[in-house]
Amino acid sequence: MRSYRNYDQLSLTFDHTINVIIGENAQGKTNLMEAIYVLAFTKSHRTPRDKELIQWDAEYGKIKGSIFKRNRKFPLEIIVSNKGKKAKLNHIEQKRLSDYIGALNVVMFAPEDLNLVKGSPQVRRRFIDMEIGQIQPTYIYHLGQYQKILRQRNHLLKELQRKPSADRTMLGVLTDQLVEHAATIIERRFKFMQLLRSWATPIHEGISRNLEKLEIAYDASVKVSEDMNLETIRNTYKEKFSEIESKEIDRGTTLAGPHRDDLVFYVNGKDVQTYGSQGQQRTTALSLKLAEIELIHSEVGEYPILLLDDVLSELDDYRQSHLLHTIQGKVQTFVSTTSIDGIEHEALEKAEIFHVKEGTIEVRK
Ligand SMILES: Nc1ncnc2c1ncn2[C@@H]1O[C@H](COP(=O)(O)OP(=O)(O)OP(=O)(O)O)[C@@H](O)[C@H]1O
Ligand SMILES: [Mg+2]
Repeated sequence: MRSYRNYDQLSLTFDHTINVIIGENAQGKTNLMEAIYVLAFTKSHRTPRDKELIQWDAEYGKIKGSIFKRNRKFPLEIIVSNKGKKAKLNHIEQKRLSDYIGALNVVMFAPEDLNLVKGSPQVRRRFIDMEIGQIQPTYIYHLGQYQKILRQRNHLLKELQRKPSADRTMLGVLTDQLVEHAATIIERRFKFMQLLRSWATPIHEGISRNLEKLEIAYDASVKVSEDMNLETIRNTYKEKFSEIESKEIDRGTTLAGPHRDDLVFYVNGKDVQTYGSQGQQRTTALSLKLAEIELIHSEVGEYPILLLDDVLSELDDYRQSHLLHTIQGKVQTFVSTTSIDGIEHEALEKAEIFHVKEGTIEVRK
């Protein structure tokens, strides 16, 4: 990469098993992890503003990487400049995000992932959207269309709020378009929920030594249920919108839809967000991340890259070794830490060690 965050220029080859990134605070550990994340998703997990990724004073920043997948090499490239962003796959620029995302699958686990359980619904929606997007890139297209129509519809609702007597034909058109994409999004989210549960529940049992049972519910703003097909979801949505039309005009905004839905996690029947201990919340987040790894493997046929930024030292010994044992030998992993002390596991013995200091990296076996 070049002119990316605090890295002037950097070129590295990573081990296909475990890579440990060691460095003191503010040296560039997260920046390196972030670069791999950006290469997969074209955007950062830390900021929605691409410009922050470009090194201060530089005009553009570039990340290049070659991945091996099904015995084939795929060159990937992301260039961020003040004018915009380019994503290249096999040296060819991809204009549509959905043509690029999915080439490289990545699962990141960072301290802020505790927000998956504790944080706002937005964090959980982002989680499902990102995960479905990387196993099913056309989902990103529907999501993008949905958001575009949602903005237009909200704009129109604001106008109607000011002038309720105005013609409502356009509202009907936008509602139909919105429902089309909403129904597809919901249908895919429901399929994802079933997959997520099937992996996360046994994994959570394993991490908690059979003491905890994890349940995951989809909290929908429109009364749809997971046994419905696309047609029924669509009709349920249409009914809902005709029911709340005057209320929406009154409030000047769209009051129901995938953008208002949420996930709820229960451990032994109790809502973890409200009643869970810090440890239970952390275990739940870890179960979800480990489930993601298996889910991607089952859907895509390859394991994703796992990025563990500063989280290993926060887990107790049992969870640490459970995690390292689960990934050992099958998942290419990047672990960042300020110190390797306290992380003892056979999995780390063969790891490649990278020492980070002020944006430069030294490799030591
Ligand atoms: N666009 C940028 N250009 C240059 N430097 C930047 C840019 N963005 C961030 N930095 C710097 O990069 C440095 C390293 O940040 P990074 O988050 O990677 O640290 P870290 O090694 O993960 O530290 P910690 O252990 O505290 O998490 C910070 O000092 C920050 O000021
Ligand atoms: Mg960091």
